[in-house]
Amino acid sequence: MQGQGQGQGQGPAWDRASAHRQVARVPQPPSPAFDHADPGAYYRALREAYGPVAPVLLDGGVPAWLVLGYHEVQFVAGNPELFGRDPRRWHAWDRVPTGWPLLPHVAHTPSVRFTEGEEHVRRAGAVADVLGEVDPYELRQRAERAADAAVDAFAGAGRAELVAQYAEQVPLHVMAGLFGLHPDETAALERDLAGQYGYGTAAAEPPHPACPAHPGGTAPGPAASAARLRAMLEAVLARARRSPAPGADIPSRLLAHPAGLTDEEVVQDLLTIMAAGRRPTADWIGNTLRLLLTDERFALTLSGGRRSIAQALAEVLWSDPPVQNVIGRWATRDTRLGGRYVRRGDCLVLGLAAANADPRVRPALPGGAVGNHAHLSFSHGAHRCPAPAPQLAEVVATTALEILLDRIPDLVPALAADELPWRPSLWQRGPAALPVTFTPL
Ligand code: HEM
Repeated sequence: MQGQGQGQGQGPAWDRASAHRQVARVPQPPSPAFDHADPGAYYRALREAYGPVAPVLLDGGVPAWLVLGYHEVQFVAGNPELFGRDPRRWHAWDRVPTGWPLLPHVAHTPSVRFTEGEEHVRRAGAVADVLGEVDPYELRQRAERAADAAVDAFAGAGRAELVAQYAEQVPLHVMAGLFGLHPDETAALERDLAGQYGYGTAAAEPPHPACPAHPGGTAPGPAASAARLRAMLEAVLARARRSPAPGADIPSRLLAHPAGLTDEEVVQDLLTIMAAGRRPTADWIGNTLRLLLTDERFALTLSGGRRSIAQALAEVLWSDPPVQNVIGRWATRDTRLGGRYVRRGDCLVLGLAAANADPRVRPALPGGAVGNHAHLSFSHGAHRCPAPAPQLAEVVATTALEILLDRIPDLVPALAADELPWRPSLWQRGPAALPVTFTPL
C-alpha cells in the first residue's frame, strides 16, 4: 500500500471529484515507505500528510481510502447504511488484476462477512450462538492439551522456534478439536489455511489459477488450498449428518441451528470461523511472547506470573494488534469523511492499528492499556469480531502463554530484539520467527 497524492491543505481545494482522480492531476509528494518492523511510522507519516483519511494505492495500483483516525474508523464501521460490507458495489473491479493477492478478502461469497442488514443479523446471530456454546472450561482443557503436546515436541532439544512450533500450533489444534477433525484432517488444515488466507505481499503470492497461464485451476496456491479446505469441510458436514445424535462440535451445531442455514452458507461460515479464529489468535500469542521475551519491563516478573501475561496481552492489542487493517467497507453513496469526499462505491480500508495509535485518543502507554478495552483491534459495529470470539481467543492465548512460561521459565531469545523478523504483511502483524534457547527438560 502506498500513500498517494497530496496532503490536506496543499494545492487546490478538495472538491466533489474523487480525490483519487484529483490527485492524479497534481504533483505527487513522496509516499512514506512501509517498514514491517515499524508500521506505526508509516501510519504517522500518512496521518501527517493527509489527516485521518488517506488516499492509498493497494497492490497493483488499486485505489482505496485508508481510514487512520480512531473516530473515523468507528464512524465507518458503525454506520453500515453508509459504508456497506458487500464488495459488489465497488466501482474499481475493472482495476483489480488477475491473481490479486487480496481477492480472498474482497471477492464476494455467501459468507457472513459479506452479508448486510437483516441477513447479517440472522447469519451473525447463528455464528455467535454457536461460539457462545463453547464451554470456557473445556476450551481451557483443550488449549492445555495442545500446549503441553507442543512443548513436549521440543522440550528435550533446548531450542525451539516458537512461532511455527508453538504460537501456530496451539490455536490450530484447539480449532481442529472444536471442529471435530481427525488427525489427518488437522495436518491438511495446517497446510491449507496457510495457503489460502495469508495476506501476503503481491510478490510472495503464487499466481491465481484463474490466470490464463494456469487453466483448469489445478495450480498450487490460494485457490487450490481453498478447494481442499472446502472439500474437507463438506466431508465434515456429511459426517455430522450421518451421526445418529447431534454432535457438540461447531459444524454440527451450525448445521442444526434454527436459523436454517443452507449447506453453502454453513460451509462459508465455517471457513470464516476457522480462518478468523486461528491466524489472529496465533499472532496474538506470537506478538505477546515477543513482548514478554524482549521487553525488560516484563523480564523482571516473567517467572512470576499471571499478571504480567494479562498485561502483555492487553498491551499487544493496543500496540501490535494481530489484525492491522481490514479490507473493507464500500461507500453506499457519495459522502464526506475526515475532510475527504468519498464517492459511492469507493473502497475503505479500516486502519485498526493506526486508529489505536491515534494521538487524539491513545492512552499513555505503556501500562495505560491495562483495563482499557477501547482499542479497535476486534473492529467495531455490526461486523466486529462476534462477541464470544475475543473471549475464546483470550482463553486460548492466556493458557498457551501460561503453560509455556510455567514449563520453560528460562526461555532466552536467540536473536536480539531488533533482529527478530516480522512477517511481511500490511494486514496482519505477527513475528516471522521467535528462535529461543533454554535448559533442555
Ligand atoms: C486475537 C484474536 C482475534 C482478533 C484480533 C480478531 C479480529 C477480528 C476482526 C478485526 C474482524 C473483522 C471485523 C470487520 O470486518 O470489521 C473479525 C471478524 C470475525 N471474527 Fe475475529 N478475531 C479474533 C479471534 C476470533 C476467533 C477466535 C473467532 C472464532 C472462533 C473469530 C471469529 C470471527 C468472525 C466469525 C468474524 C466475522 C464477523 C462478521 O463479519 O460478522 N475471531 N475478527
